[in-house]
Amino acid sequence: MDSLLHHIEKGGLPHHIAIIMDGNGRWAKRHNKPRVFGHQNGVKAVREVTEASAELGIKYLTLYAFSKENWRRPQAEVNTLMRLFVSTVSKELNTLNKNNIRLKAIGDLERLPKRTFEALKNAIESTSNNSQMTLILALNYSSRWEITEMTKSIADQVSSEKLGIEDINEEIINANLTTHAFPDPELMIRTSGEHRISNFLLWQLSYAELVFSDTLWPDFNREDLYSCILEYQRRERRFGMTGEQVVKS
Ligand code: IPE
Ligand code: IPE
Ligand code: MG
Repeated sequence: MDSLLHHIEKGGLPHHIAIIMDGNGRWAKRHNKPRVFGHQNGVKAVREVTEASAELGIKYLTLYAFSKENWRRPQAEVNTLMRLFVSTVSKELNTLNKNNIRLKAIGDLERLPKRTFEALKNAIESTSNNSQMTLILALNYSSRWEITEMTKSIADQVSSEKLGIEDINEEIINANLTTHAFPDPELMIRTSGEHRISNFLLWQLSYAELVFSDTLWPDFNREDLYSCILEYQRRERRFGMTGEQVVKS
């Protein structure tokens, strides 16, 4: 089969792709297996999409791995996921370094189980000098939590007179979010046919193109990624302007 890769316009790639990896549980169900089997098989898709993105020249890839709401799941599933994060991060460390990929994480990381937090911290430190791509894991992340923390931090700076109220602008808000070091995603992909944001990067996705794929996450492969990027490249991004203005510029 002719790869969709050849149809991608290399000059028009998003710098940052964010993905809601969804559908592991339904994938497992289809295979008559417990939900955790779906999570285990989701790791393969993470590896493939990470590699394909780095090869393409995408600079930032954010993967939503665990939301604050996901603590509501059965305890056994949560425990397995936390263990899976530890083993995956440790196992993939060599590959990340080989592929020159820097690992970062956003979310309420300190409230993760200690072993998960330590494994993550270790991988972040040991990949910190890599420069081909930054892989950002959203772990124990939720956008409303992040926005609440940002508000507290700005309020604190105002009350200690480090910042005046009139100085608060979009730049200051960005600087106080967990994503302060990364550009906003231009493309957000959600797999498994669900059409919602689920508390993911509400501020940062303001002008992102949203692309929804029916593929369940464990089946999502590099061709699916290329297909989403092609869909993104077919869109006209207007940022409030008219179509005529955008075509001219
Ligand atoms: C996404 O797959 C993985 C996580 C949220 C950790 P799900 O586990 O949500 O799979 P479905 O949506 O139940 O199929
Ligand atoms: C969103 O998926 C969170 C992650 C992919 C980590 P969910 O499957 O938890 O989302 P909802 O609850 O169905 O919206
Ligand atoms: Mg889901």
